[in-house]
Amino acid sequence: MAIILAGGPVANKLKKELIQKVAELKRRGITPGLTAIRVGSDPASELYVSRKIMACEEVGIESRSHILSDDVTDEELLELIRKENEDSSTHGILVQLPLPATIDTQAVIEAVAPEKDVDGFHPFNVGRVSTNVGGFAPCTPKGIMKILDFHGLDCRGKDVVVVGASNIVGKPLARLMLAKEATVTTCHIETKDVAEHTRRADILVVCAGRPSLVTKDMVKKGVILIDVGVNRVPDSSSPRGFRVVGDIASAARDMAYAYTPVPGGIGPMTVAMLLENTIIAAEAIDKGIVV
Ligand code: GUN
Repeated sequence: MAIILAGGPVANKLKKELIQKVAELKRRGITPGLTAIRVGSDPASELYVSRKIMACEEVGIESRSHILSDDVTDEELLELIRKENEDSSTHGILVQLPLPATIDTQAVIEAVAPEKDVDGFHPFNVGRVSTNVGGFAPCTPKGIMKILDFHGLDCRGKDVVVVGASNIVGKPLARLMLAKEATVTTCHIETKDVAEHTRRADILVVCAGRPSLVTKDMVKKGVILIDVGVNRVPDSSSPRGFRVVGDIASAARDMAYAYTPVPGGIGPMTVAMLLENTIIAAEAIDKGIVV
């Protein structure tokens, strides 16, 4: 039987440690604060941000959220970020992506003060993480590394194949894996033969946002499967009219040594890493040090 890499129990254990950490910071007069900014009414983004805010409450992080309409201008959004950069009660700023197409996403990412960039999207943090000198690592890739580590699954020398090359997950994950001395291949939309790569993988991470993209015939026996996909597919037998599936077809689990479920795999880890990054930011800002 394959090992199920459930994120919930790992995230809960981490949250217990973070509760202690927040209490310790509060004794020193520091209350970690996170500001979440969401633009528009994308239901998935609404759900993700509300989970993040609830998780802050669980561990004692003060949170505030700004919900902006999708006709907000770049200037209004940038002005809000500037205000939050200046606000000493805010230690972490998260702008939920994707933003409406009218907004210059990169300008928004670069407007967040690097020391408050708990999503790890600012080029300053991207550079520090890439060169393995520190920085805030983005939450989903960091959560993937944590869950592997928690289960004693070492990446050193392994063939790691990442399917999906986004700035949020695929690229930063490849860099974190490289830092752990894995041999990393990143597949993307132009990759000629994805299956040729996935069949070699000791650890296969799929973060392409395509339901059941990777099928059983595309993986080798004994693989570790990490599924980042959260896709809604129509399902008339469900009261909600849809069900949630990952980017890896569930039959592929028959081949796996270990796999992450969907939902309940990587999602809870992403949220826990955001909390951890916010606490790290609060402490570093207080001490005046660069993460
Ligand atoms: N959209 C999808 N994942 C993320 C994330 O980790 N952070 C933010 N800010 N937006 C996202």
